[in-house]
Amino acid sequence: MAADGADLGGEARMLDAMVAPCSRLLDAGCGPGRVGAELAARGHIVVGVDVDPLLIAAAEADHPGPRWIVADLADFDLSLA
Ligand SMILES: C[S@@+](CC[C@H](N)C(=O)[O-])C[C@H]1O[C@@H](n2cnc3c(N)ncnc32)[C@H](O)[C@@H]1O
Repeated sequence: MAADGADLGGEARMLDAMVAPCSRLLDAGCGPGRVGAELAARGHIVVGVDVDPLLIAAAEADHPGPRWIVADLADFDLSLA
C-alpha cells in the first residue's frame, strides 16, 4: 500500500501530536512495526511488542532502530521494555 502511495502514517501523526517530544512509547501489538517505526522517526523512543515472531522479524528487517520484542502482552513484564 505504501508503494502505491497510500498514507499509512495517520495514527502515528495523531499520537505524535498527543505526547511530549522524545516520549518513551510501547507499541503494544506492533505487528510489522508500521506505527512504531513512524513514531521512532519522529524522535520517540519506541519498544514494539507482538506475539507473532514473523511480524517481529518483518519489523526488524524493515525498521531497524526501535526494539522489537516477541512476547504475549497478557503476561509481559513491562519492566523489560
Ligand atoms: C490489528 S494488528 C495491528 C498491528 C499494528 N499495530 C498496525 O497497526 O499495523 C494487531 C496485532 O496485535 C498482535 N497481538 C494480539 N494479541 C496479542 C498479545 N496478547 N500479545 C502481543 N501481541 C498481540 C497481533 O499479533 C497483531 O500483530
